[in-house]
Amino acid sequence: MEQHHSSSPHTLCQEPDFASIDGLAIAVGALLPALEQFCKFDQPERTAIERALWSARLEEPLPQAGSGSQAVLARLRDVVIPNGLRAGDPGFSGWVATQPTTIPAVAHLAAAISGPLCVAVQAYNLLENLAMRWLRDLVGLPANYQGIFTSGGSVANLIGLGAARQYAFERHGIDPAQYGISALPHPRMYASTQVHHVMYRAAAVLGLGRRAVVTIPTDDALRLDIAKLKERLETDCAEGCTPIAIVASAGTINTGTIDPLPELIQLCQEKDIWLHVDGAYGLLGILDSDISHLYGDLSRCDSLVVDPHKWLATSMGCGAIYVRDGKLLERAFTLEPAVYIEESLPIYTDDAPITSQFDDLGYVFHNFGVEHSLPSRGVEVWAVLKEIGVEGVKARVCRHNWYARYLADLVGDAPNLELVAPVTLSTCCFRYVPDALRGRKDAEAMELLNRLNRTILGRIHERGQAIPSATLIDGAFVIRACFINPRTTLTSVEAHAREVELCGAEVWATMEK
Ligand SMILES: Cc1ncc(COP(=O)(O)O)c(C=O)c1O
Repeated sequence: MEQHHSSSPHTLCQEPDFASIDGLAIAVGALLPALEQFCKFDQPERTAIERALWSARLEEPLPQAGSGSQAVLARLRDVVIPNGLRAGDPGFSGWVATQPTTIPAVAHLAAAISGPLCVAVQAYNLLENLAMRWLRDLVGLPANYQGIFTSGGSVANLIGLGAARQYAFERHGIDPAQYGISALPHPRMYASTQVHHVMYRAAAVLGLGRRAVVTIPTDDALRLDIAKLKERLETDCAEGCTPIAIVASAGTINTGTIDPLPELIQLCQEKDIWLHVDGAYGLLGILDSDISHLYGDLSRCDSLVVDPHKWLATSMGCGAIYVRDGKLLERAFTLEPAVYIEESLPIYTDDAPITSQFDDLGYVFHNFGVEHSLPSRGVEVWAVLKEIGVEGVKARVCRHNWYARYLADLVGDAPNLELVAPVTLSTCCFRYVPDALRGRKDAEAMELLNRLNRTILGRIHERGQAIPSATLIDGAFVIRACFINPRTTLTSVEAHAREVELCGAEVWATMEK
């Protein structure tokens, strides 16, 4: 694995590449102890306070001469890995993110090495297709749904809404993929105020404009208010707007709320409007029989997103989009044929079958999304589903949903904690309320409570027993625990309530009021 340097142009063309192309076991082996240590989470996190130290070891000018493989491995082992992101810490419940479990992570490495491109006659290409089918079966969608693995929910939503745009324009005899979207006035997408912010960018990228996203208020349970949606649709249609899609969240980012899907399905069918379901976080919640009725009949939705890199804990970079009409999806995203591809494929017959894996493209995915060269993502979904089965996913989802309800109970039992939103999935939003502020809704109390809880969050992060994130609900700053982390234990769930109580009392006692 040692590096060769030569100054002679003549010998250069006969020498091997500077980069190591062998010694894989040694290289991986050199990192394994550091990775194993990282996954123990038995030391307090020091990365933030030691930022200056490790940054200084990494920040260096572009090297003219390489330092060689050993130097890179040593830097990874000693500096990078120990200072990575501890999203797998059992106490971490922030955002909707986690660290992959062992098997999908190893499948990721395997794919990087032996499945670098997801085309042609090879195992990873087959697994991409198989994993799409397995995931579809897991959430109970029928076989006609087609789609693609993406880099995450952001791109998956973009693709689903691209299909919605195709549908809405084709109804008026226009192919937006060919002719653009100037022909129809005032396109509109409808979603609740709790919709994930990637939806605005999707509208921008699709040429509809961020202002095409119309946000509809929610009811008391933070679900999209159907009556208000109907009113708005009526006004907009009377004014000549073109509805492109209604976007329902199956698990909002803030509180894990599921919009009223059965009613939305009904409405979209009546009005012939595309129903897009953003289930990036919560679609797998359908596996929990306590709440599965909230999802309605998913086979009547037009497009659905689910992110394996969330609850399935694959490595980051794996979302999925399913569209009921695969042909329409293809019309929206197809790539022009290209001679460099077509001409490379032999004309073969049954009598003369292909003899090289490069003679056939295998399952072709690039007509369903916005990427061209695709990495093998499905292998991780296949790996985790093969490892733990439907049973294992169900157990994880139910356990995490139960954790959120249990935390809500702990909050309910604690005199100074207040639950701020109903629990549907695995998210629990709550805050600390000192006796002196209980029941007060005036602006001064609100400001104090927000400042207090913001400080509490910082304090509990510093202590590292519970690492939730936060959000605002009706202007109230709340601590937000979202359990999708397979490493989370009952003890760390309990720590969330205990730490907020403890730090709340401390901060309140010393806070400037
Ligand atoms: C409901 C929802 N939609 C979309 C997204 C965006 O997904 P990604 O971060 O994978 O792009 C998220 C991310 O948390 C989400 O929770």
